[in-house]
Amino acid sequence: MFSTLALGSLLTTLLASTVSGQQACNGYSQLCSVPYHQISTIVTHNSYGYAANPAANQACSVSTQLDDGVRGLKLSAVLPANVSDTDPANNIHLCHTSCTILDAGPAKDTLSEVGSWLKSNPNEVVTIMWNSPNNKAFKPSDFTAMYQAAGLLDYTYTQPVDNLTWPTLQEMISSGKRLVTFTDLGADQSQVPWLHSEFNYIFETPYDNSNESSFTCTIDRPSNPSNPESMMYVMNHFLYGSLNLGGTAIEIPQKGKANSTNAASLSTQAQECQTAFGRHPTFLEVDFYNLGNTLQIVAQLNNVTYNNNTALKCNQQASSGNGGSTSSATSTTPSLASLMALGVAFLWGFVV
Ligand SMILES: *[C@@H]1O[C@H](CO)[C@@H](O)[C@H](O)[C@H]1NC(C)=O
Ligand SMILES: *[C@@H]1O[C@H](CO)[C@@H](O)[C@H](O)[C@H]1NC(C)=O
Ligand SMILES: *[C@@H]1O[C@H](CO)[C@@H](O)[C@H](O)[C@H]1NC(C)=O
Ligand SMILES: *[C@@H]1O[C@H](CO)[C@@H](O)[C@H](O)[C@H]1NC(C)=O
Ligand SMILES: *[C@@H]1O[C@H](CO)[C@@H](O)[C@H](O)[C@H]1NC(C)=O
Ligand SMILES: *[C@@H]1O[C@H](CO)[C@@H](O)[C@H](O)[C@H]1NC(C)=O
Repeated sequence: MFSTLALGSLLTTLLASTVSGQQACNGYSQLCSVPYHQISTIVTHNSYGYAANPAANQACSVSTQLDDGVRGLKLSAVLPANVSDTDPANNIHLCHTSCTILDAGPAKDTLSEVGSWLKSNPNEVVTIMWNSPNNKAFKPSDFTAMYQAAGLLDYTYTQPVDNLTWPTLQEMISSGKRLVTFTDLGADQSQVPWLHSEFNYIFETPYDNSNESSFTCTIDRPSNPSNPESMMYVMNHFLYGSLNLGGTAIEIPQKGKANSTNAASLSTQAQECQTAFGRHPTFLEVDFYNLGNTLQIVAQLNNVTYNNNTALKCNQQASSGNGGSTSSATSTTPSLASLMALGVAFLWGFVV
């Protein structure tokens, strides 16, 4: 009798410790029971663009971003002009509008980094949103080829078309399907079920902002959302700036202002959007997530206490010379050609 009780209590203890060991979901035990669509997440704008280049929107690698708590990546797939599309896994690159401006190499390489990170972080759910510069859509099978080459297919989560009620983080983590993918062009869920058409599930606020007072909580894309009351939304909160190059204005990210753009300005817009749309932004898309208080702000929106206020890995790298201080934007001189290409692309409305 006594031994049965003791065994029972031992089992209970074991069970409790196992459960509590698994209980943090995206860093917080309180988020395990919350559906994916009700959680606010920092998404990095052009996540792959962190090389020393004035067009770069970030300061650190995708792995560092994920280590620091970023859970959404905005990527843009581009076929370099001198390459054929016969081998999508190797030929599709991550580029800032044009590969002459900023080329982060084959998409497969960055995706492999995401795969390694997911493997070593089993309680995390990550979102990738694909952007299609120049309205160039890739085929669903191109995405499959890239994800397969990167070892990501086992992680891909599929949400049925038109179902806006998502599972909880714990459900996704337990199923092992914890990579959610959206694309703004080229999805066909009847061919590739996990490649979700972004605008069936998500709308976005305007992205083309040049100062903090121009951020608004209106629906910019898609033009006619099917279900604006229930869709998730991206709150775009980054600024384009202007660099004067021999009398020509070149548009580049405003790194020097990011500490302010990503602080009170970010939480103020989140509150305005909460008022406008009746719910918190799902995805807060920012440049230079390591500046300002981006991760504290989403923790507040998620009603959890930010547990790692001290030193983002990205800023530790910055202080040792590799990463993203506010002053490093011009530390490497970009080629005149890349700046001109950026300016022309922007004037044509291509830069996103
Ligand atoms: C805090 O962030 C650092 C850098 O990203 C990371 O290495 C560390 O594990 C984090 N600590 C906690 C408690 O989350
Ligand atoms: C395409 O052009 C880039 C930049 O000039 C060059 O580095 C690369 O080797 C070229 N690729 C091919 C397949 O020619
Ligand atoms: C939508 O998906 C959720 C989460 O997987 C599921 O619980 C729900 O039953 C689905 N709703 C419909 C109408 O299929
Ligand atoms: C901010 O941007 C808006 C829209 O681009 C513009 O109308 C306004 O004049 C700008 N305000 C300042 C203070 O520069
Ligand atoms: C942003 O950085 C600048 C220059 O380092 C500083 O003057 C300013 O006070 C900072 N702003 C915020 C909101 O931290
Ligand atoms: C945080 O609390 C607010 C207000 O009660 C609620 O609307 C929101 O859904 C909560 N968010 C999470 C992630 O639990």
